[in-house]
Amino acid sequence: MRIEIPREFERLGAVRIYGLQKVYELDAGPELNPPARDDAVVRSLSAEAIYEVQREMAIVVPVRSERLKLIEGVLVGIPHPCLVIVVSNSPREPTDRHFLELDSITNFCRFTRKQVLVVHQKDPLIAAAFVAAGYADLLDESGLVRDGKAEGMMLGTVLARIMGRRYVGFVDADNYFPGAVNEYVREYAAGFLMHGNDHTFVRISWHSKPKIVEQSLYFAKWGRSSRRCNRALNQLLGHFTGYETEIVKTGNAGEHALTVELAMSMRYATGYAVEPYHFIDLIEQYGGITATEHGDMRRFVRICQIESRNPHLHADKGDAHVADMIVGSLATIYHSRLCPVWLQREIDGELRKDGFLKEGDTLKPVRVYPSLARLNVDAFAAAVQSLVAGRIGAPIVSIATVR
Ligand code: GDD
Ligand code: MG
Repeated sequence: MRIEIPREFERLGAVRIYGLQKVYELDAGPELNPPARDDAVVRSLSAEAIYEVQREMAIVVPVRSERLKLIEGVLVGIPHPCLVIVVSNSPREPTDRHFLELDSITNFCRFTRKQVLVVHQKDPLIAAAFVAAGYADLLDESGLVRDGKAEGMMLGTVLARIMGRRYVGFVDADNYFPGAVNEYVREYAAGFLMHGNDHTFVRISWHSKPKIVEQSLYFAKWGRSSRRCNRALNQLLGHFTGYETEIVKTGNAGEHALTVELAMSMRYATGYAVEPYHFIDLIEQYGGITATEHGDMRRFVRICQIESRNPHLHADKGDAHVADMIVGSLATIYHSRLCPVWLQREIDGELRKDGFLKEGDTLKPVRVYPSLARLNVDAFAAAVQSLVAGRIGAPIVSIATVR
């Protein structure tokens, strides 16, 4: 892959947010001997180097009631060396959709000779593992893991940790283009190669999202939620640096990857607020603005943003869904202890003006889970291990391979 070196970054304490990096070649050829000389603006990363990073990577695919053909297409796009972890929250009744997913994934595994770890978010055995690990925060009144994409991602992160992977990446299950999925995962690896593997966070900004506008294809750049979310995050940053900025382009990036160590140290916001809250948590913990919980300001957190080349086309979930995402995203910023009053007023005003908040409503805080550092990984692994006995016969629920 040939990729641009970031031209700028914004710094807040130990957090560095790098400017968007463009990709110039999806495949820049093999490792040359002697290595090709890069110039000052681009770097070429060999296919071998990318492959080596992917061998240490788990890709988590959160699924809730997606069409089987879409899920299969996503699995097809994930490079072979990556460990795939599918976390499903699809209904089990009246139709057992998860059973159908298992059947389809088993078929995929048969053809690819690949093991895919598949777990169901509502599996009581998984809930028991969280209890055993002293992290019951994720469970609801019924004693099972709560609904939500973030909740599925957190479970996937813990499994990636137990499986001994160094990096964890996420791709949505409703992507129509396997080629786009393949590109995202290669870009995750490129980000780690360029920025190192200590507290590095790689986020993808889609090049475009095709839509039909008046019977023609239109390649939109920003989604309705990303536009607002990026602006508010940039305003928050600018407030502390004293310089207006547009550095953040990936506030809502569902496609992202980070080191497992960093992922296990972070706090998470529920549902779709998860991505913007990454920024909030990192700035609150490492921004050096107020006393930090992590304390170690000598380790930089590097947030790298890469602009993908494939258009992004995914299932349309409707306007109400986008409205929820807008409100959830802005609520994480509004309720941050760092959010200045003027920005709170601006967010509140914008939500009212555009009809997302009605007269008398207030912007409610979203649920935030404590850092996964509190979870006892060994206890979780042991609990999962002991659950395996009851699973014999399940074809690709390779939870049995958990070590
Ligand atoms: N495990 C699990 N549990 N997965 C879920 C859940 C859940 O409760 N809810 C949704 N998912 C899965 C979906 O099946 C899909 O694969 C993925 O999470 C994203 O959900 P979508 O409903 O397709 O979200 P979106 O397309 O509107 O938004 C995506 O892009 C945004 C950026 O524009 C998401 O990735 C957002 O998180 C992201 O901010
Ligand atoms: Mg989607």
